[in-house]
Amino acid sequence: MFRISSKIYVIFLCALGGFNYVKADEAKDALIVQTILKLDSFDYEKSSNKVKDSVSRYLLKNVGTEEYFTLVEKFLIEEQLSNLQSLCSEKDPNSRAANLLFKIGGKDAIADALKGLTEGRELFISSIGFVNNSDTVSALESLLSGDNFKEMRVVVRAMSNSPAGQEKLLDLCEAKKIPSQLKQDASVLLSGSVDPRVRSRAAKIIPLPASLGGGSLPPVKELVELRGDSKKGELVYLRSCFTCHKAGEKGIDFGPALSEIGDKLAREAMYVSIISPSQAISFGYEGFTVKTNEGATLIGYVVSDGDKELTMKVPGGAVVSTNKSEVESRVPLEVSLMPSGLVSAMTKDDLIDLVEYLMTLKKTEK
Ligand code: HEC
Repeated sequence: MFRISSKIYVIFLCALGGFNYVKADEAKDALIVQTILKLDSFDYEKSSNKVKDSVSRYLLKNVGTEEYFTLVEKFLIEEQLSNLQSLCSEKDPNSRAANLLFKIGGKDAIADALKGLTEGRELFISSIGFVNNSDTVSALESLLSGDNFKEMRVVVRAMSNSPAGQEKLLDLCEAKKIPSQLKQDASVLLSGSVDPRVRSRAAKIIPLPASLGGGSLPPVKELVELRGDSKKGELVYLRSCFTCHKAGEKGIDFGPALSEIGDKLAREAMYVSIISPSQAISFGYEGFTVKTNEGATLIGYVVSDGDKELTMKVPGGAVVSTNKSEVESRVPLEVSLMPSGLVSAMTKDDLIDLVEYLMTLKKTEK
């Protein structure tokens, strides 16, 4: 009955013109997807091939979009493992794809990918750095024993992006189980952690100068008089800010988007925001440390606080929900989630160029 009527519907649409069969088919796939997303207890594994085909076609057309992630996450669709792996290694580090790849495929999916992957390998490593789990951290740690120094630097940077990875890096540094050049990398990166405890442990590994060129920064009043090179500044942004802020299409969505920050902040306020982030914390981005009774630590800001669940956004942009009954403690951070140590990893010129770049980020006039 359904088949006849849907065929008639399609013929009718074709007859109307402007609508071809393919379009109608796409619309049907989308309708099926919308419908199953609304059902609370839909068993995807046991669903018909027809539904599965519609879902696969729909996913193929929408790889990497919000709908794609929602659908794959809701039904934990195993056939998507290879697409998720590609998303982790294609354009930018993708924390969402990495978290989902691990959730569906576990440590085997990560190990398999690392074994075979050559193209996009560094991006893949960076992506899985955002998964806050001891298995992925161990997978990364195992790459630190080779002789590929270039890759090892990428691994250290990746590990610095999750609380579990930071903990491991600190342990490795303190136990002197890591080459000294990498130790320097680790301490600079960890000085940018959102966790004040991590920052103070990192400072004990290798104390950092006030700014990388040595010497201390001039006061903000003097800095605002100087002009830099915005092209170079964009590179500084990609190195130091990209992991937490979006500027246009680039960057990870954790802190406020900076796409129009040049309209919002004057040069002086821009310096202050970077050098001492805790002076003015943006509304809605106040940080919390949450401990669960399974021993996990989450640091981030609260996106929703319901009766049953506490949902937080954590560095890397992942949104993590914890059952209220599993929350052991929730303590406000006294400081901004934006680390104050970022300027320690820059020269004075880097900082001036960076601000020059940020000042160019304005609403595009239409
Ligand atoms: C670990 C994550 C993280 C990193 C890295 C980071 N930020 Fe932030 N940033 C945040 C968060 C979270 C906030 C909001 C809380 C606050 O205002 O302190 C923020 C706020 C800001 C603001 C104020 C935004 C507003 O709308 O008022 C600016 C400007 C800013 N960051 C610039 C930068 C720059 C430039 C860098 C790179 C040098 C950087 N941030 C690196 C997390 C980060």
